[in-house]
Amino acid sequence: MRRYVIAGNWKMNMTPSAARSFITELAPKVAGKDKCDIVLCVPFVDIAVAAEAAKGTNIKIGAENVHFEAKGAYTGEISAEMLVESGAEYVIVGHSERRQYFAETDETVNLRTKAALAAGLKVILCLGEVKSERLSGITDEVVAMQTKLDLAGISEEQLKNIIIAYEPVWAIGTGLTATPEQADETCGVIRKTIAKIYSEKAAEEMIIQYGGSMNDGNAAELLAKANVDGGLIGGASLVTDKFTAIVDAANA
Ligand code: PGA
Repeated sequence: MRRYVIAGNWKMNMTPSAARSFITELAPKVAGKDKCDIVLCVPFVDIAVAAEAAKGTNIKIGAENVHFEAKGAYTGEISAEMLVESGAEYVIVGHSERRQYFAETDETVNLRTKAALAAGLKVILCLGEVKSERLSGITDEVVAMQTKLDLAGISEEQLKNIIIAYEPVWAIGTGLTATPEQADETCGVIRKTIAKIYSEKAAEEMIIQYGGSMNDGNAAELLAKANVDGGLIGGASLVTDKFTAIVDAANA
């Protein structure tokens, strides 16, 4: 019943001209592969060009972050309305690199999520445990707590525009992937938490991606798991053939 969502996260890669070439090359490779939604989350300055290049294709464009205020004296920040007008339909919120290097907290992740939803964006909300938390055996508690804090004050109706990306921080950009069993189990913990806060129906409908060194070689077995509804892909989203192979795994 749930649809796969395969989303790329380009991080700080690709200039606008590179974005245009990439999408022009990717579009025919993923054309008609409609068993999943396909999203590319790109740097702010690439959004308009990427949206233009993706027009008429099955590729949707997203941003990688958003500020929580609508406007004002916040030098260097970007509002949700700016993203929408530039052509973004999605936005990543709470990525671990934002939490780790830019001091984002569950509180600001929650505020950003609310601002994005209010502007009509779909949110890809990232959460996940760090290595020491997994080694201490507290992964389940950590992801349940993040789920509760990040979704505080968000209604069940609004939840329909949120995708959760479970990204174990120790697996991001490291080449270490969670095993399909670990991914399934922890996505399952997040799903149960949604059931507790909202309802069984909301939990059943919630799209939960796995992210962390997902690539063309491991996507099929991760996506085969019942609780894994797609992927948030960093490194492998920068190569059209690798990204296409992941889209193919979701369409098999
Ligand atoms: P990775 O990044 O696929 O390069 O590990 C995933 C992410 O950070 O979303």
